[in-house]
Amino acid sequence: MKAIKVGLLGLGTVGTGVVRIVEGHQEDLLNQCGSPIEIAKVSVKSLNKQRAVDVDVSKFTEDPWEVVRDAEIDVVIEVMGGVDHTKQYIEEALRSGKHVVTANKDLMALHGPELFEIARQHGCDIYYEASVAGGIPIIRTLLDGFSSDRLTKIMGIVNGTTNYILSKMSQEGASYNDVLEEAQQLGYAEADPTADVEGLDAARKMTILASLGFRSHFSLDNVQVKGISSVSKEDIAYAKKLGYELKLLGIAEREEDLISVSVQPTMVKQTHPIASVNGVFNAVYVYGEAVGETMFYGPGAGELPTATSIVADLVAVVKNIRLGVSGKQANYAYKDIKLKSDDQ
Ligand code: NDP
Ligand code: HSE
Repeated sequence: MKAIKVGLLGLGTVGTGVVRIVEGHQEDLLNQCGSPIEIAKVSVKSLNKQRAVDVDVSKFTEDPWEVVRDAEIDVVIEVMGGVDHTKQYIEEALRSGKHVVTANKDLMALHGPELFEIARQHGCDIYYEASVAGGIPIIRTLLDGFSSDRLTKIMGIVNGTTNYILSKMSQEGASYNDVLEEAQQLGYAEADPTADVEGLDAARKMTILASLGFRSHFSLDNVQVKGISSVSKEDIAYAKKLGYELKLLGIAEREEDLISVSVQPTMVKQTHPIASVNGVFNAVYVYGEAVGETMFYGPGAGELPTATSIVADLVAVVKNIRLGVSGKQANYAYKDIKLKSDDQ
């Protein structure tokens, strides 16, 4: 039985989790996919770094092009981050007939539609479940689970780092800087944590969710964003005294055909379930005209939860390859979008 060969771009927090799951769940993955999965090549920034997982040194390279140009590789998993150079690697992989799985919300929020089009033209798949809400399968849910409904609102906590910070400040009176450092050490924060604390990471994720949920392409430029860097312990204590918790909430709403998306620190009544979403956990509420209210909850960042989504995407890709249905994955629908602000 021919193995499916995977090229891994990045072996940091998420890449390490991918190797652990692919190796640890080998039998179960084979049972679902019908082909063994082999991590055939891995690109990293520094070959001299100590690794948390055991990967044959002969598989390592410092040059991502070696991975994307390797004719033996069937699937490229991109977990290195970044936008411009990473976009080039992914485009090249798709153009040479490789399927792509990515956790990169920065890239997908900015260039998703272009990449879907390249994938379609070359009969390839690009999957990105890990790009929003780590271990919660919210992208599949919006794409498939609610395809029958007309969604009106998507709201939630979609950044683990800031929720970890706000929870610890609220529950333990911890200092902002100390908890941010902890979140970085735990592998939750972005390479540049400004993206987390200034709300940009959440804005990118809400852009992806709004585009999927409202079946159009919502532009990141149209998200109103405010982060948590100016939130003080005193603000949190005061909110608490009034019966509220402070949470960084993303809200995407549709009224008729007008759409608005925002990310901002929000006072949430302590009696609302979202107020008790703590630590690195995320929660996404989805409202539909037919379904009413639904809630999805789980770990929003971290090695294994994120890798769970990546490897689930990999399984989907391998199943598509075996069924001969690659390149047929539905993504956004391309309807013109109207902004709520344009109407005022
Ligand atoms: P890390 O910083 O832990 O790992 C990045 C990896 O990419 C490292 O192995 C690094 O090499 C490698 N790398 C970086 N730049 C280059 C380069 N120019 N050439 C070759 N290799 C390079 O990041 P994470 O694993 O935390 O995140 C990866 C991606 O997943 C990002 O897009 C992030 O936004 C996303 N993500 C992260 C989550 C998390 O919880 N951490 C959750 C969901 C998504 P080296 O090891 O040698 O430094
Ligand atoms: N930095 C991100 C977060 C990683 O904290 O949510 C998961 O996307």
